Amino acid sequence: MIPGRLDDVIVVEDLWHRYDGSDVLRGVSFAVHRGEIFGLLGPNGAGKTTLSSILTSQLRPSTGRVTVLGRDPVRQARDLRPRIGLAAHELRASEYLTGAQTLKFHGHLYGISGKALERRVEEMLSLVGLGHKRDELVRTYSEGMRRRLNIALALLHDPELVFLDEPTVGLDPHGRRQVWRVMWDLKARGKTLLLTTHYMEEAEFLCDRIAMMDRGRVAAMGTPGELKARMGSGKIIEVGIECSPEIVKEVSELVPEGRVYNASGLNISTKDPEPVLQRILKRFVSDPGYGGARIVVREPSLEDVFLELTGRSLKEELKVSEGEDGKRPEGPNGKARSSWNPFRNLHGQEDQLEAG
Ligand SMILES: Nc1ncnc2c1ncn2[C@@H]1O[C@H](COP(=O)(O)OP(=O)(O)OP(=O)(O)O)[C@@H](O)[C@H]1O
Ligand SMILES: [Mg+2]
Repeated sequence: MIPGRLDDVIVVEDLWHRYDGSDVLRGVSFAVHRGEIFGLLGPNGAGKTTLSSILTSQLRPSTGRVTVLGRDPVRQARDLRPRIGLAAHELRASEYLTGAQTLKFHGHLYGISGKALERRVEEMLSLVGLGHKRDELVRTYSEGMRRRLNIALALLHDPELVFLDEPTVGLDPHGRRQVWRVMWDLKARGKTLLLTTHYMEEAEFLCDRIAMMDRGRVAAMGTPGELKARMGSGKIIEVGIECSPEIVKEVSELVPEGRVYNASGLNISTKDPEPVLQRILKRFVSDPGYGGARIVVREPSLEDVFLELTGRSLKEELKVSEGEDGKRPEGPNGKARSSWNPFRNLHGQEDQLEAG
C-alpha cells in the first residue's frame, strides 16, 4: 500500500499487465504528487509505455489499483480524458494541414470553438515556439517541430496532468533543449507532468522524482539526489579503454573491493578511490598497449545507480534503440545540476524558441 497524500494525482498499487502470456508489468506501485515532473526512466521494454497507456485509459490493466485525478481510468474514462493530455511518441496528424489547422481541428474534438479556440491555438503555438510556422503544412516540419506540435496538441484543452512519452528521442541537442524548455514552462504553470524517458540526463535534469523501471518492476524511486545517494560515498573511476570480458575479470581480481563493469569503457565503482587508482595506474600506464588511456574519477550518475540495482547498463541497451549513429544526448554528465543550463547553446547564449 502506497502511503497516500492529499495532493497525489496518480496512485498506482500493485499493478500487473500481461501481454500474450508474459507479464510486462509486475507489481508496480508509486504515487505522483500534484505539480511535479515525475519520470519513468528505464531501458527498452521496461514497460514504460504500457504503464502510461494504462494511466491514460487506453489499456485495461490485468490486475491492480490505479487512480488518476481521483478517477478509475477504465470505468471513468469519459470523466478523466478531458482532464489529461497525452503526447504519444509519434505525432498523429495529417501532413496536409498547417500547424494552426491541426490545432483547431483537435480543439473542435474537445468542444472548444470560436474566439476561445483562436486564442488557445495562438497561445499554444507561442508556448511551443511554432508561431512562425503556424501556416505551413505539417509535412514541412522538422522532427523537433513535430514533437513540439505534438505537445501543443496534448495541451490545447488545458489539461491539469500531461503525459509525455519519450518526447525527445531522435532530436538534436537544440531540439531537445527546446522541448525541455516547454516542459519547464508547464511545470511553472502548475501542471503535473509524467515523463517517460530512457535518457538519464533528461530525467536527472527535469524530474523532481524518478521511478527507475526494469523489466516491469520499479527498481528504485526517489529524487535524483536520493537515488544517487544509494551509491553511498563512493566514486566511479573511468578508464577509457576497449573493455573486454577478460579485462573486466583481470581488473576485478586486481580490485576485489570494487565493482568492475563495462560501460562504454572500463568502470570501477569504489568507496575509496585513492588506493584503487594507484593499482589501476600501475597496471595500465606501464602497459604500452594502454599508454594514452584517459582516467577520470567522478561522482556516480543515475546510470551507475541503475547498473548497481539491476546489474545491467541502461546505456548498453540504448545502443540498440538509438539507431545506427548511436548518438547520446548532450547533458550535465557529472556537472552539478545547479550550474548546468541546458537552455544555453555551445556559445553560452540562450536558445530562442522561435528560431527553431
Ligand atoms: N501490444 C503489445 N502486444 C504484445 N506485447 C507488447 C505490446 N506492447 C508492448 N509489448 C511488450 O511489452 C513489453 C514492454 O513494452 P513497453 O512498450 O511498455 O516498453 P517501454 O519501456 O515503453 O520500451 P521503449 O523504451 O522501447 O519504448 C515489451 O517486452 C514489449 O515487447
Ligand atoms: Mg515506450
